[in-house]
Amino acid sequence: MSPFLIAPSILSANFACLGNEVDKVIAAGADLVHFDVMDNHYVPNLTVGPLVCQSLVKHGVSKPIDVHLMVEPVDQMIEDFAAAGANRISFHPEATRHLDRSLQLIIDSGCEAGVVLNPATPLHCLDYIINKLDFILMMSVNPGFGGQQFIPQTLEKIRKVKQRVRDSGKPIRIQIDGGVKVDNIRSIAEAGADTFVAGSAIFNQPDYKLVIDQMRAELNK
Ligand code: DX5
Ligand code: ZN
Repeated sequence: MSPFLIAPSILSANFACLGNEVDKVIAAGADLVHFDVMDNHYVPNLTVGPLVCQSLVKHGVSKPIDVHLMVEPVDQMIEDFAAAGANRISFHPEATRHLDRSLQLIIDSGCEAGVVLNPATPLHCLDYIINKLDFILMMSVNPGFGGQQFIPQTLEKIRKVKQRVRDSGKPIRIQIDGGVKVDNIRSIAEAGADTFVAGSAIFNQPDYKLVIDQMRAELNK
């Protein structure tokens, strides 16, 4: 397991030239391409679907596509995104009736599987399914929008999840999503996260590489 991964969220990219934006952010050092899918149902915002994912795959994306489903229900979208070329898929447990079944769908599709915990989602949803997970995506904002403030209570929650992961004995990654910036990434890593989604922090700056390099410098301090 490589130590730290940076996953720019294309939610804050310029959608008028998405292929170019993805090329640029990969050249700048992205490890994953975080792809936020919102349905104006599970969350009050609407973004992109499997066709856009498929177009990016055809365009050529040299890093794994990390699909974060904020949709309800989830199962059809799991199948469609897997077919579109996604590499990792996560969903919110409260958005599916059958958590184990939805996870198994991801596993059977050959993608890495994750569940997403909202800031107020209790950890007991990890009971009985933790052994199926490749990663846990922890929201440090309420899902739906980029550019929100990191919720500080998340740090304590990351520590608890880290302990659950240790107890499981499995190499499950802990990914954090929401309000990640150069000035807080270090404390988030110290709490136990190893994969960092960042949208506005990267795409709202002209030089993506500068921001990603600064993030890595913080992580490697
Ligand atoms: C929010 C999305 C995030 C979002 C993060 O629901 O899941 O991935 O893009 O954006 P920032 O990094 O701006 O908080
Ligand atoms: Zn996300």
